[in-house]
Amino acid sequence: MSGTQPLKSKPPAHDAARKSEEATSVAKALGSRSIVLVGLMGAGKTTVGRRLANRLDLPFVDADTEIEKAAGSSIADIFKEFGEAHFRDGEQRVIHRLLGEGPQILATGGGAFMNPATRKATQENGISIWLKADLDVLMKRVSRRSHRPLLQNDDPEAVMKRLIDERYPIYATADLSIDSKEGPHDAVVDEIVHALAIELKCGGTET
Ligand code: S3P
Repeated sequence: MSGTQPLKSKPPAHDAARKSEEATSVAKALGSRSIVLVGLMGAGKTTVGRRLANRLDLPFVDADTEIEKAAGSSIADIFKEFGEAHFRDGEQRVIHRLLGEGPQILATGGGAFMNPATRKATQENGISIWLKADLDVLMKRVSRRSHRPLLQNDDPEAVMKRLIDERYPIYATADLSIDSKEGPHDAVVDEIVHALAIELKCGGTET
């Protein structure tokens, strides 16, 4: 080592001011609508969602956590004791209730947007954003934790591939889609806020 460290580059002040202005206009233009994050397990809905909420100064709500609260048990236990169909009923009910409580950032479980009634309610009460990620990124992220019932089997990668085939055409009907790349989550948040500014016609310019 030479002893001289490269200077960390800071974004110019005007860039920070522009970002904060854009975030304020987006939050204002939303009115009572929610921003609804959809996408597969491991797409970053919760992690990115929390940061996005922070940026827009809005509450963050995780639908899976709300389902667990309403049921008084974990998603893994709901699947085990009552089966997936029962979980899906509860999921639909909870998301419909939450959609009446915007504005907020609402992270939904990977299967929620597959339900046509939930998609319709989302369309009416929110702006949907598909966080899109490749198989290898998803697998890397989900392999860090083992609480997801759909992946508790011998070949979670095969399950993920099947879910990509089944779900991506439906996720693609979301209002916006954003690549949930590896790297700093804040870069994904920047992209989301900019795409929302364009979608909501509140100051964003297409780049
Ligand atoms: C599911 C995804 C999970 C959770 C449940 C079912 C799915 O949420 O809702 O295990 O069907 O993809 P995350 O996408 O937040 O992991």
